[in-house]
Amino acid sequence: MPSIPTVHFGLAGLGNVGMGVYKNLLRNGDLVASRSGVRLDVRKIAIRNRDKHVAAGVPAALLTTDWRDLVNDPDISVIVELIGGTTDAYDLVKSAILARKAVVTGNKALLAERGIELVALAERENVPLYFEAAVAGGIPIIKAVREALIGNNIEAIYGIINGTTNFILTRMSDDGLSYDDALAEAQQLGFAEADPYLDVSGWDAGHKAIILAWLSYGQWVSPDQVHVEGISHLTRSDLAFARSMGYAVKLLAVVRLDASKNIEVRVQPSLVPRSSILASINGVMNAVAVYGDIVGETLFYGSGAGQDATSSSVISDLVDAADNLINEAGTNNGFVPHGQYGASLPVADTISSYYLRLHVDDRPGVIAAIASLLADHSIGILSMNQPEVDASANGADLMLMLHKASYGSMLAARNAIAALDCVRQPPVLLRVEKFPARHA
Ligand code: HSE
Repeated sequence: MPSIPTVHFGLAGLGNVGMGVYKNLLRNGDLVASRSGVRLDVRKIAIRNRDKHVAAGVPAALLTTDWRDLVNDPDISVIVELIGGTTDAYDLVKSAILARKAVVTGNKALLAERGIELVALAERENVPLYFEAAVAGGIPIIKAVREALIGNNIEAIYGIINGTTNFILTRMSDDGLSYDDALAEAQQLGFAEADPYLDVSGWDAGHKAIILAWLSYGQWVSPDQVHVEGISHLTRSDLAFARSMGYAVKLLAVVRLDASKNIEVRVQPSLVPRSSILASINGVMNAVAVYGDIVGETLFYGSGAGQDATSSSVISDLVDAADNLINEAGTNNGFVPHGQYGASLPVADTISSYYLRLHVDDRPGVIAAIASLLADHSIGILSMNQPEVDASANGADLMLMLHKASYGSMLAARNAIAALDCVRQPPVLLRVEKFPARHA
């Protein structure tokens, strides 16, 4: 191969994804070099436990326990941040930008919480910042939105962007597992962390949705303006009932703009029509549907997590960073913040249809009382189902499909219903999401 330039990078973090980057560059480094015209060379790796990594075969000479060694090395021109969290990772990214080193990160929480200042700093210092691995693992959704779809107004994005919760919901729905058993299996298979909070609370997807909203609309929506609900309150009967009604339940991220340019960003378990493609995304897979005003509907599918898939995105960012350095393209990474327009739509004003499950006394007047409270809030009943139980049963389940209403009205109605004496357990309220008609 003719001599080609080499770009040295520093890798901070050698966990699952970091090891994937290291390993897959050993495997495909020549291919990447022949395609891109730049050789990527890992110069230093910052880790916590040196012995562990030496034992795993990583050359000791590459390792340091202080990420500052990466930032201070004049030969390193790109820093890859894969240490996670929002404290050390923030210090590292900020220091790297100030040292005028390009940054590649997979850290969705860092961007969602502090992206507004880090991106401003990167712009001020004219340093490119790449984050393909932060959203949907191996799916090139960042490149798609900021480069391939740059000519479009983004009308809406609907995404299944957390593999762990999609695995749990699939096992509950298809195989009748309880939430606890499905979560335990996800942990056993290495999909869910020992502390699964970020996944099952919906916040991992929430962070990714904030990044997609920023790319789409040029505005950072603060996490406290994002409505995020997790999946831990769902039962097998919710999933079975949804299925019988022609729906699948998915933890769905919704990012869209209304006619007044208010941005809606939310993540909630939602009933989606089984006829939709998103309903068929199962297991740990992710999918993101992006609607552009020119292109219409596009759909991106793939592994949203995992060592190899996520490292594929990091390697792509590394090539872009190296290409920019070699060709002195500055911060040209295909995206320019575009206007900072719009405001966040308060979740109370967002509109959808709903599913409401109640556990109630099985006696005359109960349905009338519930219907009356719904009517008080101008919410119509689309259908109602009370599976038959015998008289010895401890109450009855009541599943209602409700017409479109604002979330504010729906919450007020739900709270009033929850306060009825005949309602024995906290109600379960889920969105029903219909997708825009496909362009012909
Ligand atoms: N834990 C995430 C998931 C991957 O299950 O999709 C990293 O964001």
